[in-house]
Amino acid sequence: MNKINSCAPGKTILFGEHSVVYGYPAIAMAIDIQSYCEISKASKDIIELIFDNYGIKLHSAHYLELINSIPEKFKHFALCFQLFKKDYGIEFENIRIHLTSDLFPGSGLGSSASTSVALINAINKFYRLDLSKEEISDIGYKMEEVVHGSPSGIDNTTCTYGNIINYEKGKFEFLTSPVDLKILISYTDIEHDTKKAINNIKMLKEEKPDLVSNYLKEMGSIARTAKKALHSGNILEMGRLMNRNQQLLSLLGVSNEKIDVINKIANNNGAYGSKLTGAGLGGCVITLGEKKTLERISQLLKNKNIMNFLTSINEKGVRTDEE
Ligand code: PMV
Repeated sequence: MNKINSCAPGKTILFGEHSVVYGYPAIAMAIDIQSYCEISKASKDIIELIFDNYGIKLHSAHYLELINSIPEKFKHFALCFQLFKKDYGIEFENIRIHLTSDLFPGSGLGSSASTSVALINAINKFYRLDLSKEEISDIGYKMEEVVHGSPSGIDNTTCTYGNIINYEKGKFEFLTSPVDLKILISYTDIEHDTKKAINNIKMLKEEKPDLVSNYLKEMGSIARTAKKALHSGNILEMGRLMNRNQQLLSLLGVSNEKIDVINKIANNNGAYGSKLTGAGLGGCVITLGEKKTLERISQLLKNKNIMNFLTSINEKGVRTDEE
């Protein structure tokens, strides 16, 4: 094979971020904003790794030299190549790997999982390994471990399979709804740090175990109720649950002023509900509402220089051009 193009969606967590790390259920939706990976044959004795979004352009004549030159922040890519070499005997030589993402980094939209999954699938197809989605997601999980420490697995799962999923303790099921969910995603313009947010909650839990356990437990029961509301198309109830989920995330210390401002504008202008999505401390906010209402809120936010866009579900998950 001379060339392969692979893409994987980003994701947004509708309910249950953070509590999912403690084994409670969460609901995530794959979105139609994606990451891309192209692998092509290169001239002799060249391995190239290009990641446009970060201005990374590494090339070397030798696999080991390339691996060692990958910057610390992207060590999950090194792990990916090492895994494929060890477990599948892939000799990475004479290839050009080109990664790019439409997801902004640190936004809580799964940019790291999405690029990882797009890369894994590209390697899978280029070397004709015939990996299942489950195997792709599992490697994605290992890469997420390098990025986040102890991820729940919700990001790699959603970016691999697409759709709306209910995720709990490593298991997932697809969810459907009779209503076409319209979600506005607004960016706080603050790059978040997932590891730090997770650690803050861990430390708060050590300090106030009963209180934090109760918050996490309630977040789990919100996700369970939201699953039913989604199934029956009760969008008003979903909005109410989103607002309560946001209050709890705020009590856990992962919200901030900018997130509060966006939520307030949304809820004062007819949204059903609004909350941070992903790790928090920055990143993005999701707002649920009718299309017309969201368009109005979008304009109000733009007037305040808050970048936002309407999104819809990605139902395909990871795929190549051939699929
Ligand atoms: O990295 P983010 O912003 O997509 O957040 C991931 C969601 C968390 O629940 C905070 C962590 C996890 O691994 O589930």
